[in-house]
Amino acid sequence: MIISIGCDHIVPDIKMRISAYLKSKGHTVIDNGTYDFVRTHYPIFGKKAAEKVASKEADLGVLLCGTGVGISSSANKVKGIRAALVRDVSTAKYAKEYLNANVIAVGGRITGIGLIENIIDAFLDAKYIKTPENEKIIKKIDSLIVNDKDQFGNEHFFDEFIEKWDKGGYPKE
Ligand code: RB5
Repeated sequence: MIISIGCDHIVPDIKMRISAYLKSKGHTVIDNGTYDFVRTHYPIFGKKAAEKVASKEADLGVLLCGTGVGISSSANKVKGIRAALVRDVSTAKYAKEYLNANVIAVGGRITGIGLIENIIDAFLDAKYIKTPENEKIIKKIDSLIVNDKDQFGNEHFFDEFIEKWDKGGYPKE
């Protein structure tokens, strides 16, 4: 399979381990960044990685940030994406079987690497159960997002923020 991956600056090391894991299983990985610990922001990479799935360039997506909350929320704003934030194998399986989730997200600071690998295996191995009921609910969920042509595929969508952050405009935490 072709797997689109992405993370924020909190967990690029964990993402690289996941990338190597996926490759060792024979998958092709599209790594959308970020690539180091330099401060950035998860919506950029959630959007970028999710768009590869939405455009069918990739079959599925795997996303990470510290908790998984920010990057999964961002990915879910991309039309056609059903991203599930999971912390266990059963939920990963459920997400694919019933929701036909096409992106899985985990918290690299929350979930250990062994469990993340098990979660990914469960997600990739699970098969969507195509029933009229599941189809109906998925169609409803997908119809919640209206395609915004100004942002889809727009690599400059976050430029204004990136410029501000680069100039030190990022609020101190
Ligand atoms: C850092 O930006 C941190 O908030 C992020 O990695 C994540 O935990 C958010 O859900």
